[in-house]
Amino acid sequence: MNAPDPHPIVQAMRPVPSAMLDALRARFGERCSTAQAVREQHGRDESVYPMMPPEVVVFCESTDDVAAVVKLADLHEVPVIPFGVGSSVEGHLLAIQGGVSIDLSRMDKVLAVHPEDLTVTVQPGVTREQLNREIRDTGLFFPIDPGANASIGGMSATRASGTNAVRYGTMRENVLALQVVTASGDIIRTGTRAKKSSAGYDLTRLYVGSEGTLGVMTEITLKLYPLPEAVSAAICQFPSVDAAVRATIQIIQMGVPIARCELLDANAVRAVNKHDKLNLQESPMLLMEFHGSESGVKEQAETVQEIAKEFGGTDFQWATTPEERTRLWTARHHAYFAAVQTRPGCRCQAGDVCVPISRLAECIDAAMSDSEAHGVPYWIVGHVGDGNFHLSWLLDPNDAAEAQRVEELNVRMVQRAQQMEGTCTGEHGVGLHKMPYLLGEHGEGAMAVMRSLKRALDPKNIMNPGKMLAL
Ligand code: LAC
Ligand code: ZN
Repeated sequence: MNAPDPHPIVQAMRPVPSAMLDALRARFGERCSTAQAVREQHGRDESVYPMMPPEVVVFCESTDDVAAVVKLADLHEVPVIPFGVGSSVEGHLLAIQGGVSIDLSRMDKVLAVHPEDLTVTVQPGVTREQLNREIRDTGLFFPIDPGANASIGGMSATRASGTNAVRYGTMRENVLALQVVTASGDIIRTGTRAKKSSAGYDLTRLYVGSEGTLGVMTEITLKLYPLPEAVSAAICQFPSVDAAVRATIQIIQMGVPIARCELLDANAVRAVNKHDKLNLQESPMLLMEFHGSESGVKEQAETVQEIAKEFGGTDFQWATTPEERTRLWTARHHAYFAAVQTRPGCRCQAGDVCVPISRLAECIDAAMSDSEAHGVPYWIVGHVGDGNFHLSWLLDPNDAAEAQRVEELNVRMVQRAQQMEGTCTGEHGVGLHKMPYLLGEHGEGAMAVMRSLKRALDPKNIMNPGKMLAL
């Protein structure tokens, strides 16, 4: 496969006709904006791509608002792009065909908490940190944590995961039910609050991870978990990335129910030290967290410490108080921004491959050697307990040759992961950037099924068009 053009081709614009703009203004008043600054804010994300603003932004406050926008978009065949907080990293939000950005950030209500069933129903603009604040009194929490304080709608749309997924699963496992506005502007429900179901096609799973290409999620029912009785976090330094990864593989193969198992290479540690004023030893490390009963946590930690020692790991440094833990995890969550700041003016191109756990060491090692040989600055963090890592390059946005080199490194990394029966994206989604990799992963037959689904559910191709699938 040739490296794809790192900058997407701007596609033919589909203008918002004045009749539609008038109808939007009549219904939404000041909540319908064509101001340059508002449009620009909605036409970019954390990806490497230049901004591509939508023509109009509508701030929705209810499901009926969303349905009204989509009905007009359907009538006039104009693109709609749902927007949460703008933290996606693959170009999902860019208005490559123009159209309307549906801003969901004002749909930020926690609608129903059912502590007795361990479920909660929220609007899509609720952020994960807000959700955990609002349910704190119940003794429950929502574990999925992609790093950024993303919206639950965005996390559902990209099938996000992050640091806790090794223990609690991803959005795939944790979304029970949805309310969705379809491409024709109808409001449907998928799934129930029951823990399981054999009732027909699993539409919830179809919409989760569909990146706004099939419908707009307007209510999301999630699983919750009891706050663990004991939590402790530890850091362990290793002589090499390879040693840290081999220790991780053994931890997972032995079935230790570790809650978080994160790799940082020396470059990532250096960046977070500077950004968050920490004093961590600048060598490859695992940042881990254990959840359970007091005795369970102790037992898990002892097992993991023994495994780590076999691979040259240091004695654990513990962060037992909530403040110390927060400090460490906050630093980890800032890693992306910390790394970007190490090369002024750069943009970060984040890899996101994920492989079966037994192949992880090989996959990371090959990607590192390849990057070293090409000399582009890179750094690694990884949700390594899941076989998922972000080897990410820091590139000069004005240097086309460098962008091309990085894309070639990325293509090779993706192809290796796919040859290992893994995936091009563990958690960031396809957006614009990963589109060229889907065929290699799924094959022509499965791609044809995906295109049929898209055409059936969005016949006018108005839902975040030009993303994920080339029709
Ligand atoms: C992280 C994001 C970039 O793991 O996925 O920090
Ligand atoms: Zn991540």
